[in-house]
Parts: sequence; C-alpha cells; structure tokens
Amino acid sequence: MHERIGALILAAGKGTRMKSDAPKVLKTLLGEPMLWYGQNALAGLFGRRVLTVVGHRADLVAAAFPHLTDRFVLQAEQLGTGHALAQAMPRLLEEGYEHVLVANGDAPLVTAGSLAAFMEAALSARSDVAFVSIELPEAGAYGRVVRRDGAVRIVEAKDYDASRHGPATGEINAGVYLLRLAAVAPLLSRLSNDNKSGEYYITDLVGLAQAEGLTVLAVNRGDDPAYCGINSPTELVAAEEVLRRRIVAGLLEAGVVVRAADSVRVGPRAAVAPGVELCGPLELYGATSIAAGACVSSHNVLVDAAIGENVTVHPFCHLQGARVARGAQVGPFARLRPGAVLEEDSRVGNFVEMKKSTLGKGAKAGHLTYLGDAKVGAGSNIGAGTITCNYDGVNKHATTIGEGAFIGSNSSLVAPVTVGAGALVGAGSVITSDVPDGALALGRGRQVVKPRK
Ligand code: UD1
Ligand code: CA
Repeated sequence: MHERIGALILAAGKGTRMKSDAPKVLKTLLGEPMLWYGQNALAGLFGRRVLTVVGHRADLVAAAFPHLTDRFVLQAEQLGTGHALAQAMPRLLEEGYEHVLVANGDAPLVTAGSLAAFMEAALSARSDVAFVSIELPEAGAYGRVVRRDGAVRIVEAKDYDASRHGPATGEINAGVYLLRLAAVAPLLSRLSNDNKSGEYYITDLVGLAQAEGLTVLAVNRGDDPAYCGINSPTELVAAEEVLRRRIVAGLLEAGVVVRAADSVRVGPRAAVAPGVELCGPLELYGATSIAAGACVSSHNVLVDAAIGENVTVHPFCHLQGARVARGAQVGPFARLRPGAVLEEDSRVGNFVEMKKSTLGKGAKAGHLTYLGDAKVGAGSNIGAGTITCNYDGVNKHATTIGEGAFIGSNSSLVAPVTVGAGALVGAGSVITSDVPDGALALGRGRQVVKPRK
C-alpha cells in the first residue's frame, strides 16, 4: 500500500452496550481480543503505519498490546468518533500522510482484501472523503446513508427522522473511511455535538465536505457481512461464529480432518498441519501448533500448545504453554501447564498434572501424579500417585530423576531432591534426601504383623 497513506483505528470507547467495565476492544473472539483482528488486517496493508486511538481503560489496552503502545494516541475523554479523529490529527500530519484510512475498532470481521478494494475505488475517484456503505435489511443502530438532490450524508440512528430525512433505503455506514488529510483537517473544528448523543461524529464530515464542494464518495459493498460492528454480547458471539466457520472451513479445505466441525473452535493464530485429525467439541487457541499425523480428540482445550508429529491427545485434557514431542501420548484427563515438556514417545495418563517439568524420551507417568519443577530422565517410570513436593510454602524447588529410574506408587519426592539413574524408590516412600544411581530407597514405616487379640 502507498507509503503516503496511514491508518487509524478508533478504539477508545467503553462499549456501554457490552455492560462490562472492560474496554470493548479487549473482548475476545476465539481467544484473541477484538482489536487484534483490526490490527492484523491493517498491519498486512500498512505495516507500522497504523495508529490506534485509545481512551477508556487505556492501561488495559496497553497491557494487552505492549508492542503497539508507541503507536497509541490518547483520547482522554471519549467525546465521539469525530473527536477521536481530531485527537489523532496532529500525529497523522506529523507523520506526513496524504490520506488516512480510519476504521472502527469494533469490526473484527473486516479483511485486508476488502479494505484494499475500498481504497482502490476511493483513490481512483480522487475523493476527499470516502466511506464504505453496505445494504442491510435492518438498519438497527447504524448510521443511515441519506442521498438527496445528488448529495450524500450520514445521519446517525438516534438523529434519524424519516419525515425529515426521507424513507430509509437500507444503505448504512460501515464505519470505514478514507480521508484526504489536507481536505479534512480544516473541517474538524467545525464538527458540532449538537445532536441526540451530545457527541462529535466523524460521520458529520461527509455533509461538511459536501457543503464545501469537496469530492465525497460512498463505496457500496453490497451486503458484505464483514463490516458488521460489535456493540452487544449478542453481536459479539454472532461475529465469533462467523469467524469460527471461516477458520474451520479453511482447515477442511487444507486437508485437516475436522469431525463434529460445528463444535470445533480454532483461533486465528493456531496452525494445524494437513492430515491432522481433530474431533469436536474442541478448542485450540493462541499460538497452538499441531504437526502432521497428530490426533486431538474431543473435549480438549489447548492454548499455546505445541503438538508434535504423530502425537495423540486423548479426550478431556487441558494444555497451556506445553510442548509434546513426536509420538507422545497425553490423557485422557491430563493437565499440562506452562513449561510442561513431553519428549518423544513419552506418556502421561489420567489425572496427571505437569508444570515446568520435562518427561524424558519414552518415560511414563500413567496415573494420578503431580510433576512440578521436575526433570524426569528417559525411560523412567513414575508410579501412580507420585507427587513432587516442590513448594515449601515460600520457594519452589527442583526434583531431578535420572534415566531408567522407577518411582513406586504413592511416593512423595520432597524437593530439592535427586533420584539417580536406574534407582528404585519403594512404594509409599517419602524421599527427603538424594538417592544415588542404581540404589534402592525406602522411606516408610516398616510393616508390623502381630497376632490379633
Ligand atoms: C459508528 C458510526 C455509524 C456506523 C457504525 C458502524 C459514528 C458517529 N457513527 O456508530 O455511523 O454505522 O459505527 O459500525 O461514528 N470510539 C472512540 N472514541 C469515542 C467514541 C468511539 O474511539 O469517543 C470508537 C469506539 O471504541 C468504536 C468506534 O469508535 O470502536 C465506533 O464507536 P461506536 O460507539 O461503536 O459507534 P456506533 O454507534 O457503532
Ligand atoms: Ca459500533
């Protein structure tokens, strides 16, 4: 896209209709904040030439997008979309753009392709103020496009009066604009808040520009659903469903076997290799990746998980920030927390929790186990009910288990502690001091058998 065009996302509003104190643009769709989608579409066209107006709980927005804070413009008081543009204008002029593409931050379905087509149309018509309009059966809360005597303007839903503005046409404002800065900057001080909302509307620029004899253009995108704005929970989940279908259709197209596809939810950053088998209900979010030959069955939630080739994840597991190498098996009912690493062909079974721990090649923890801050050597067997006692109430400590060790069932390994390679820990032991390689350790009361009285 042309170097002299910048982009601006309006994301300062509270989103009152969401009935939540958190900023609307941080509400998530398939695990990513709403604002991520707009940023993603615009970054594809503009690189770093995207500025974002933030305001309501700007601290939270900054925390969610730390790499973008130097591209934020603060609108301390949210006095309307026209006021938001005015706050950004000095920065846009300073960065030397001729045009700015302005997009509402609450339209996550918009694609880079659609925006590029709109800009093409606006630039080739040499318009000063251009905007996207769409046709909707119900205009709802959208701004109405009113065309009269060859002139076009936008009338906000609250201010719309059929007797004054004429019968509704179904053409509405999508909330995306291409503005020539030299033409628009002088108009900003003439925006007024004398309307039903008491806000400065960006949409009034259309009428003002027209009155000045500038070139105004509405680019009609028909019934393109990609421009819907999200104002309420109902609209949020409806848009999320559109995205979900789009992503699942893409996976099927690419050769992923998606069973019970209606209940498979995959985020936009997840990468699934062709030939992988997935079965719903299933959720894959964040930077999750699934390599060829893997199978993730139903009732699993994976967030930022890396699944290697030919891995099987059985039902009812929760994986977050975990890495599972080729050929390993997980679950059913396993919980792999951040830093859990399963090396090749290893296995965790039911009711096993791992955190910041590595299970070596071919090692097994089959049942009812907690491994925290532990390193388990290749080929070791961790018996049912083994607990690494990693927390002393103040600090976390490490447990190291060598290769080929055998930990008997119901053992507690009190960290910091090392169990050597090939060592054997008897069932029911509480191990508080290191066990040398190849040794047998028993840490339990000796059984006493006496005649009954
Ligand atoms: C807006 C348009 C409307 C259009 C619709 C498309 C105006 C006045 N109206 O209405 O014509 O049909 O979008 O979805 O623009 N924002 C700020 N600062 C503010 C107020 C809002 O940054 O002071 C941001 C919001 O965070 C949001 C965007 O601007 O991302 C749009 O604001 P919103 O209140 O949702 O406008 P709508 O009433 O939906
Ligand atoms: Ca909106």
